[in-house]
Amino acid sequence: PAQAGYIQAAGPLGLPPIDGTDLPMNPVETLLTESDNLTSLQSYLLSEEDKHPDATGRFTWILSAISLSTKFISDKVRRARLQDVLGSLGSQNVHDESQQKLDVIADEALIRCLRSRNSVAIVASEENEEPIIVENYNQGDQRPYVVLFDPLDGSSNLDTCCGIGTIFSVLEHDRRSNNPKESVLQPGYRQVAAGYVIYGSSTVLVMTTGSGVQMFVLDPSIGAYMLVNENVQIPTAHKSYSVNEAYIESFPKSYQNYLHYAHKNGYSSRYVGSMVADVHRILVKGGVFLYPPTEKAPEGKLRLLYEANPMAMIIEQAGGKAYTGTQRTLELQPTEVHQRVSVLLGSSDEVDKVLSFLE
Ligand code: AHG
Ligand code: MN
Ligand code: MN
Repeated sequence: PAQAGYIQAAGPLGLPPIDGTDLPMNPVETLLTESDNLTSLQSYLLSEEDKHPDATGRFTWILSAISLSTKFISDKVRRARLQDVLGSLGSQNVHDESQQKLDVIADEALIRCLRSRNSVAIVASEENEEPIIVENYNQGDQRPYVVLFDPLDGSSNLDTCCGIGTIFSVLEHDRRSNNPKESVLQPGYRQVAAGYVIYGSSTVLVMTTGSGVQMFVLDPSIGAYMLVNENVQIPTAHKSYSVNEAYIESFPKSYQNYLHYAHKNGYSSRYVGSMVADVHRILVKGGVFLYPPTEKAPEGKLRLLYEANPMAMIIEQAGGKAYTGTQRTLELQPTEVHQRVSVLLGSSDEVDKVLSFLE
């Protein structure tokens, strides 16, 4: 008979429970506490896969590549100043911005990990002028993926120890197109997953596959991302904006009017200058993030495919809104890989407030 303190488990494969054994099964009492979190990103993804009978695991492999490469990048970021990874490379990327060593290290780590997954057909990143076709991808794969990323966002903040991050977007490869670029140029509503990792006071991975937003924290002692919030919701009624206000004179008048309104109505302002850090704060606390058109960057500065779109998907999935100023960001048809766009995203009430000034 089962001992007191133990419950009987059902037998495997629908067989009757194993009776008449003294072996302990499923102890009722436990020394683990609520804070002993044992749901990792991997176990979360595998349990999600179980819910979809036609899942093949190919998609889970992609997130595992992102997980592994961002742990590697996180380690490099944590070892900056101890190891020689800081400073400029002396080269420029496609945007004529100076490349930091860590920009390139992060880019190479992501590409190397993603390349080893044969369901990835194309990768494209901020640091590479053209999308890269993965030579060993499985041509027989009916639904290969395209992965777009900003390997290190906010890298100019590296030297100052501020939060920086990696932003990623996953699309299905459009096999009908002969030109791989066309497959990259899909509107954001077609993303099958999006997210970012912030290397801040801890390393946090925030992601969505289209059914809510999940947040994981890297536990450095066991080297795994652990689930801390399964359904992140962006708060409302938070009077806070995040914008590079030094450019106010070159913003369109409508944005200036919103900021003047905010000044007179008890708002606070926070701006790091790393999109990942600024958007993460908005996701957690509420408010609005803005990068409007300026005289220097009339289309806006941020990149549609690997900055604005993945962040827009996260914010919408968390109950917020994301606009270019004139339309919903996720509906914009891209025309170029490194296209820039104006960004307005955050709590639904505050985005509506800004939009009321833009009309
Ligand atoms: P990156 O480091 O990937 O080039 O991105 C920098 C971006 C973004 O992170 C941030 O929101 C923005 O630049 C800040 O620009 P300003 O310095 O013009 O405010
Ligand atoms: Mn960036
Ligand atoms: Mn970058």
